[in-house]
Amino acid sequence: MQTRKLRNLEVSSIGMGCMGFSHGYGQIPTEAESIRLMQKAYNEYGCTLFDTAEVYAAFENEILVGKAIKPFRDKIILSTKYMPKALPGQDIPEGKLSRKGLRMAVEGSLKRLQTDYIDLYYEHRVPIESNVEEMALWMGELIEEGKIRAWGQSEPTLEQARKAHAVTPLSAIQNEYSIMHRTSEKEIFDFCEKNNVGFVAYSPMAGGFLSGKYNKNTEYKGDDVRRVITRFAPENVEKNQPLLDLLNNFASAKNATPAQISLAWMLHKKDFIVPIPGMRKDERMAENFGASNVVLPDDEFNKIEEELAKITIYGDRKDSDIQKLGTIVTVAKS
Ligand SMILES: NC(=O)c1ccc[n+]([C@@H]2O[C@H](COP(=O)([O-])OP(=O)(O)OC[C@H]3O[C@@H](n4cnc5c(N)ncnc54)[C@H](OP(=O)(O)O)[C@@H]3O)[C@@H](O)[C@H]2O)c1
Repeated sequence: MQTRKLRNLEVSSIGMGCMGFSHGYGQIPTEAESIRLMQKAYNEYGCTLFDTAEVYAAFENEILVGKAIKPFRDKIILSTKYMPKALPGQDIPEGKLSRKGLRMAVEGSLKRLQTDYIDLYYEHRVPIESNVEEMALWMGELIEEGKIRAWGQSEPTLEQARKAHAVTPLSAIQNEYSIMHRTSEKEIFDFCEKNNVGFVAYSPMAGGFLSGKYNKNTEYKGDDVRRVITRFAPENVEKNQPLLDLLNNFASAKNATPAQISLAWMLHKKDFIVPIPGMRKDERMAENFGASNVVLPDDEFNKIEEELAKITIYGDRKDSDIQKLGTIVTVAKS
């Protein structure tokens, strides 16, 4: 696979979002199957960016990812995230959003991931009350100590990104981004471009919607966020059909799939964007990683943009909806 830069970190142009191996999309695979898939991502497709977080299934996902990447730890970029809110067993008098809280979190992640450094460490869902300059200073200390190689923010405001970057340069911003959800396009992309900050796109397949393989009758079970996010409400699935029609038209003309067109579109958009789809089946990996070989020339890309401007998107993926499931620890923005 081709590579891209998140500031100084070189990663495959498409990474692997590992959250779904432990939670968020219903029935999880066995541990052995999850490890097989993650190892296949590296061994067969050359995927070198693996993303997890301490909050995913309350530490379980980090443990799983640590086991999977062990044979090739030093060949990949491992990203995880500090949750600025106490998780089970993390209650300290200073509160989690403190220097001590951050250091406690990083030590826990290092242990669970069975590594002595984290390549890219994010502040997860930067809350409004976070003193980002202070956080940047503390992250800078961790970089100096070699515990992390670089840091980033997930879902910061532009102001939070600017302030933090001025203290300790950010290597990446990780936000939700897909052909269905483009709120980062203006200000955050400008910021990334001007400051040599990478952009990691989470939920780049809009939870699978962009594959066109789900319909209004698809049933979701357990902790599957698609039970509650409005993008998957039956009426919105129907109303968003024009977007799938657009992807399908380009897909058939290029002998590709809608999932691949949506990823190729993003890769063409900016050279600092790296999507991290969640994939728990062999065929999904073949399809999604295969998108790195689908080239959209400028005229085709522009045509998609032109058509996209005429399409209204219905529904989204909001934490306030996900919280209704009661299965995910999130930090709400006020
Ligand atoms: N920073 C944050 O706050 C934040 C929030 C959410 C996620 N993330 C990170 O971003 C990663 C990706 O997010 P996500 O899991 O929501 O991404 P996503 O790829 O948009 O959605 C994953 C879902 O789409 C399905 N899917 C993916 N490719 C498909 C394909 N080609 N055909 C059919 N279905 C397909 C998957 O199915 P299967 O599971 O059945 O394979 C899974 O159910 C996470 O793993 C996590 O690391 C970060």
